[in-house]
Amino acid sequence: MSKALRIGVAGLGTVGRGVVKVLQQNGDVIAARAGRRIEIVAVSARHRSNDRGVDLSSYRWYDDAAAMAADPGIDAVVELIGGADGAARRIAETALQNGKALVTANKALIAHHGMALAALAEEKKVPIRLDAAVAGGIPIIKAISDGLAANRCTAVFGILNGTCNYILTQMEQTGRSFADILADAQRLGYAEADPSFDVDGIDAAHKLAILSAVAFGARLSFSAISITGIRDVTPVDMKYADEFGYRIKLLGIARHSAAGLEQRVEPCLVRKSNPLAAVGDVFNAVVVEGDFVGRTVYEGRGAGEGPTASAVVADLVDVARGNRTPVFSIPVRQLTALQAVARGALVASFYLHLRVLDEPGVIAAISESLRDQEISIENLVQRGEASGGGIDVILTTHETREDKLITAVDKISKLRTVLNRPVAMRMIRA
Ligand SMILES: NC(=O)c1ccc[n+]([C@@H]2O[C@H](COP(=O)([O-])OP(=O)(O)OC[C@H]3O[C@@H](n4cnc5c(N)ncnc54)[C@H](OP(=O)(O)O)[C@@H]3O)[C@@H](O)[C@H]2O)c1
Repeated sequence: MSKALRIGVAGLGTVGRGVVKVLQQNGDVIAARAGRRIEIVAVSARHRSNDRGVDLSSYRWYDDAAAMAADPGIDAVVELIGGADGAARRIAETALQNGKALVTANKALIAHHGMALAALAEEKKVPIRLDAAVAGGIPIIKAISDGLAANRCTAVFGILNGTCNYILTQMEQTGRSFADILADAQRLGYAEADPSFDVDGIDAAHKLAILSAVAFGARLSFSAISITGIRDVTPVDMKYADEFGYRIKLLGIARHSAAGLEQRVEPCLVRKSNPLAAVGDVFNAVVVEGDFVGRTVYEGRGAGEGPTASAVVADLVDVARGNRTPVFSIPVRQLTALQAVARGALVASFYLHLRVLDEPGVIAAISESLRDQEISIENLVQRGEASGGGIDVILTTHETREDKLITAVDKISKLRTVLNRPVAMRMIRA
């Protein structure tokens, strides 16, 4: 067997600890697959004395992870600290500058600095591997860049954030509010003390930016992604969605067509027959469509110690085998700046939920506003007792341009008889 791949692990939290465990427990099978042993030689974290439940005594300890990244006795650096800047970025740059392979699970770092890091890696002729950064244990980057390499990808979309999927699943099953379920998720450790990265859709958008680059050869453009989180999703809308045969999911959606590149993260109504609708709790799922392969679907645990460490170690096996596939599947200078589809140009069916006064002419006025924009109604139902608070009108539209819907909703929301800020969500039918 050739000589071992010597690695340094920066960050010994949930994922870092998992990587140490996988390499300690499965070292023999991993070596057989990689063609050589993968040996941890050094580790780094902030607090040396923390008990991490793994034996670290045979590894060199670094208080300064950037110094570890420059250690000439290390071939590959595994960055598992997190954050787009600060220590993580310093370590990544130091590793590449020193001609070492970089393996990371850090989607924020890659979404914001991936182009520069990829260019540096190519200049230094070393690989970056980041499968763990997108959908945890699902090998989605490898699936697209290797398994689907023959295809022009037309769409990649899915459930990219386990915390949001857990919250939405619980809301649907219990009828309890977003705030209540979020508080539970924080107690159970499924959501961070500051949940905004997850629930506001930013984490999913980081992953979507990376998927777009790999699937479409697009230059990373996090700022081009339209992002809406799940804070405004209510159990009432989930109930109505259910009546129409749909579930509400936070989706990351990237589509490449003649009109350009659409990249959005938003809560959508997903028809129950779509494979994404059945994906509950902390699970992730990604759908990739290619011109020759058609639709492919990938599902699994999108986070957690074991699944994420599994992806990190698979990336290390890739490095140990000498695989030099460019980080975004094609060389960074060949990535193209794809024109973003203007937000209003999206064509989709929409769900609308209005709270209205129960009096004659209300539905006629709503229908007129939609008709003025050439939007045709597919379904319309009224629900609820007429009390001082009004009744619910829920409708779904046939396909329409989003700017037409926005104009109509704007007009509807100004009607005296409409009591709420109308809820509008895109519907995913197929
Ligand atoms: N958790 C998941 O399920 C998951 C899934 C996919 C991707 N990821 C990504 O994986 C990365 C790590 O996540 P995690 O959940 O393992 O984070 P975590 O549990 O918070 O662990 C972070 C680790 O980084 C160490 N650290 C912080 N600042 C450091 C510094 N300046 N120098 C050296 N070490 C430092 C911490 O040290 P101390 O322990 O001493 O404080 C800790 O061990 C993130 O990029 C995250 O987005 C995580």
